[in-house]
Amino acid sequence: MKTVVTISELRSARLELAEPVGLVPTMGYLHEGHLSLAKRAREECASVVATIFINPTQFAPEEDLDSYPRDLDKDLALLEEVGVDLVWMPTPEVMYPENYQTWVTVDELTHVLEGTSRPTHFQGVTTVVAKLFNGVLPQKTYFGQKDAQQVVVIQRMLQDLNFPIEIVVCPIVREPDGLAMSSRNYYLNPEQRQAATVLYRALTAAKEAFEAGEQQAEKLRAIVTNKVNAESLAELEYISCAHPETLIELEGAIEGALLSMAVCVGKTRLIDNIFVGK
Ligand code: PAJ
Repeated sequence: MKTVVTISELRSARLELAEPVGLVPTMGYLHEGHLSLAKRAREECASVVATIFINPTQFAPEEDLDSYPRDLDKDLALLEEVGVDLVWMPTPEVMYPENYQTWVTVDELTHVLEGTSRPTHFQGVTTVVAKLFNGVLPQKTYFGQKDAQQVVVIQRMLQDLNFPIEIVVCPIVREPDGLAMSSRNYYLNPEQRQAATVLYRALTAAKEAFEAGEQQAEKLRAIVTNKVNAESLAELEYISCAHPETLIELEGAIEGALLSMAVCVGKTRLIDNIFVGK
């Protein structure tokens, strides 16, 4: 497995790779969720490139950029085990050199859900992901359903900017008790870690209600809200029952939806989602 930092190192290493190339973008501190993307890429592509870059532009000033967990040696060992061919780990100066001034912005889809409390987040994501695509020039790229809105926004950007790249969306990998794996779970103390199971418990309660005949979007949101409110260490930021592609909130009887939520457990902000119906 080769590692590169600069754009010119990346360009030379890219020339050596067999096609098709699959790209797995990450911010490191890897867990089984990230590795599931790399494994899927390994199955489907002749070469696999992973990137590790804690992208400063997708963090707001008050967010956890400085404390975001990192363990580069372990990450590289895990990626090697999965059979990744090339890891690009740019520095902030490589990504955003002095006088950097170009941004990629997706409009309406980024104003809802995560965008409400994180108004600058998606511009950081789309900009860095566009730069990762242009650097690596993959035929396929692998993203996790864990970040449901990120997937929808990247799909929009791919179409709108004519990137010739296929996005493969991989299912959420969960801990045995249902908590979606996340690098941020590392912030939770044992009591908070237990409370954090409420996200998946609440979403599955709503899904079960839907499958038992409850079709009202308002009721489904209320089921999730009540479950989260019953957990004293958890504070619900939002629960959405939205159209899976437009992310517009649904009202009344629905045939299917993306249920997604953000919850704070202590200072840690966690997100999760589930599809109901078709
Ligand atoms: P990061 O949070 O490191 O996640 C990298 C990829 O792993 C994303 O596609 C994310 O959805 C996926 N992932 C994380 N947890 C997962 C889980 N439990 N199951 C399945 N997939 C999971 O998302 C980012 O980084 C950044 O925004 C990035 C796209 C790298 C741009 O900076």
